[in-house]
Amino acid sequence: MIDGSQSISAIRGQFLDVADIVDCPSKLEEKVRHLEDGLLLLRNGRIEWFGEWEEGRQKVPASCPIHNYPDKLIVPGFVDTHIHFPQAEIVGAYGEQLLEWLDNYAFPAEKQYKDEAYATKMAGFFIDQLLRNGTTTASVFCTVHPESVEALFSAAEKINMRIIAGKVMMDRNAPDYLLDTPETAYTESKQLIEKWHKRGRLLYAITPRFAPTSTAEQLEMAGKLRQAFPDTYVQTHLSENQDEIDWVKELFPQRSNYLDVYHHHGLTGSRSIFAHCIHLQEKEWECLHNTDSAIAFCPTSNLFLGSGLFNLSHAWDKKMNVGMATDIGGGTSFNMLQTLSEAYKVMQLQKQNFSAYEAFYLATLGGAKALSLDHVIGNFSIGKEADFVVLDPAATVLQAKRSEKSKNVADLLFSLIILGDDRSIFHTYVDGRLVHKRDN
Ligand code: GUN
Ligand code: ZN
Repeated sequence: MIDGSQSISAIRGQFLDVADIVDCPSKLEEKVRHLEDGLLLLRNGRIEWFGEWEEGRQKVPASCPIHNYPDKLIVPGFVDTHIHFPQAEIVGAYGEQLLEWLDNYAFPAEKQYKDEAYATKMAGFFIDQLLRNGTTTASVFCTVHPESVEALFSAAEKINMRIIAGKVMMDRNAPDYLLDTPETAYTESKQLIEKWHKRGRLLYAITPRFAPTSTAEQLEMAGKLRQAFPDTYVQTHLSENQDEIDWVKELFPQRSNYLDVYHHHGLTGSRSIFAHCIHLQEKEWECLHNTDSAIAFCPTSNLFLGSGLFNLSHAWDKKMNVGMATDIGGGTSFNMLQTLSEAYKVMQLQKQNFSAYEAFYLATLGGAKALSLDHVIGNFSIGKEADFVVLDPAATVLQAKRSEKSKNVADLLFSLIILGDDRSIFHTYVDGRLVHKRDN
């Protein structure tokens, strides 16, 4: 029996997670933990015990409520390694590829986030969208305005959610109303780091938007900031679209490739997250690997903006750190199941496999590893932070029929990935507390 009257609660049901980090998908089968009738004990936002119900039932104090989820599947909270807070409102904007889409849709939308009241209202909306889609950790781009970062961190802090975020830096090739300077980017980011980085579960990411919108002087400042605050994150975009790559070549003729623009300024390394990485040269793959940088794979965005097909097999071969990402609003869904479904199709088009377990790993523990957070989130290991999702394998009539016919848990999971959406997210828990309940 566990003693003490601190906030303890018990969750009973069918659980699925991946126990350890793997370096190739073939090792996943042996690392998957599936408990048909399991118990998760939580105390003060942490996992106190996890295992079979029969083995653990004695540990549940008599007064402790047991939340029982028969016919559901309980999984670690999803990790979104790249998403834009101010772009929720422009999802599904018609007709453009990256550079035109930025000019016509993304930049005008981002202008509004200078207004703190607007940013605060939208931060509530954004966090709610994450939770109703089962995402409990995200690495988030705000806008160039510090107000947008204040709004997002304040909203996440209210529920003690693990969010990485940062003020976008851009000092050229964007409308005047969105530009900062190397100096203001440095001082504003520094102030935000000093206020928010490691406050509760919040973490700061130095966020140069992408090479075309920063001068070399600004990237140098970003590198200096990284040096001054070495345990912060860096997030940016890399090699998404052919026109973008050609433009980077023109803007930085002295650099040997796109990634070298960032590497030269000290922006690669652990806790550096590069979104897209579709058209990389071999040297860039090597540099990402050698510096322990991470890649955010954004399938819905890459298809929607016509950017290309990410080569995940090659990333595994190169022992890269990869996580899944929605890239809202270039991406078309906040939902990780839908994101994994599109990833499956990206792989199919390249004649590559993408098993249910591989998808699940990348959206949970693999994503946590990409964000260097696998010591605190990503699975149900004892001592980790209690962020998890209760999935409903029978959210629609079709899904109920398909689930009834599923052969095993891998098949059930795969059908959830292919057919699932926000209706599949029954409950979401953050920091051991229920923070989202499906409406019906
Ligand atoms: N590259 C630079 N900015 C962006 C953005 O907002 N979205 C995407 N998908 N790519 C970018
Ligand atoms: Zn992006």
